[in-house]
Amino acid sequence: MTDLSGGEWLDANRAQWDERVAVHLASDFYDQSKLRAGQGELYSIEEGELAHVFPEGWEGKRVLHLQCHFGADTLVLAQRGATVVGIDFSKPAVLAARALASEIGLADRARFVHANVYDARHVLPEPESFDVVYTTWGTIGWLPDVAEWARIIAWFLKPGGRLYFADGHPTAFMLDDVASDGSTRIAYPYDTDGVADVVTDTADYADETAILSAATSFEWMHPLGQTLTALIDAGLTIEFVHEHYEVPWRMFPSVVSTSPGLFGLPGKKWVPLAISLSALRDQG
Ligand SMILES: C[S@@+](CC[C@H](N)C(=O)[O-])C[C@H]1O[C@@H](n2cnc3c(N)ncnc32)[C@H](O)[C@@H]1O
Repeated sequence: MTDLSGGEWLDANRAQWDERVAVHLASDFYDQSKLRAGQGELYSIEEGELAHVFPEGWEGKRVLHLQCHFGADTLVLAQRGATVVGIDFSKPAVLAARALASEIGLADRARFVHANVYDARHVLPEPESFDVVYTTWGTIGWLPDVAEWARIIAWFLKPGGRLYFADGHPTAFMLDDVASDGSTRIAYPYDTDGVADVVTDTADYADETAILSAATSFEWMHPLGQTLTALIDAGLTIEFVHEHYEVPWRMFPSVVSTSPGLFGLPGKKWVPLAISLSALRDQG
């Protein structure tokens, strides 16, 4: 079993994410102009669903954002009135998030904590203290154990609080993401029995000119049933699971732009590319 608090996987992944931060801050992909102008936006997938899940809005909500990166989405929620805590294991990401929060006048509502997700209970020792746990786009694939992830989420939620989660669909992660002939053949197994895929890749999804020197990463496939069951076992009630045929990055060479910021396979709904869900911690 993987040691969740440290080891080769954590060191390698952290080194890679540390290096990505500067690349992302300078990229068009992570354009911060709307955020800096006070009008940050999420992708249309989250915007539509969150308006439905939280029709009352974000004012006064306490939000925990897991794997917050340099805080762009965290600060969008703060801009809308939430008090936010972002956690990320990359020091450059957390420093950039704090600087961005100060620069746009949100430091009083946004706190950024440097920690491995699996250490979250030690660095934020207040159970049942959040109305929302938020985590999206590029999350559990970096984490070895979804059962423990789900328990951490449940531990932080107040009774009546909710998880909102959106990420790539595990079925799509089976497909070849490098074939330049436009094909989308099955290339990776759906279930690897918890064994990491050790990837060597110098490319970055946000800047095709970037060449990463920290090229090794440890990534995990989490079959959908295991993720949903982990949340249920942790005591959450799943309110919806949506499958989307668009995703906010160029997941395959063959994707086409489908709507602002989103990409899909051309023609038909071949395979879902993203999943989103809301899960409720019962009143108890
Ligand atoms: C793809 S980014 C998430 C981006 C985020 N959705 C956003 O829009 O800003 C993945 C983030 O997960 C963080 N991360 C990966 N493994 C982690 C871990 N074990 N604990 C905490 N953060 C982690 C990385 O540092 C990175 O910032």
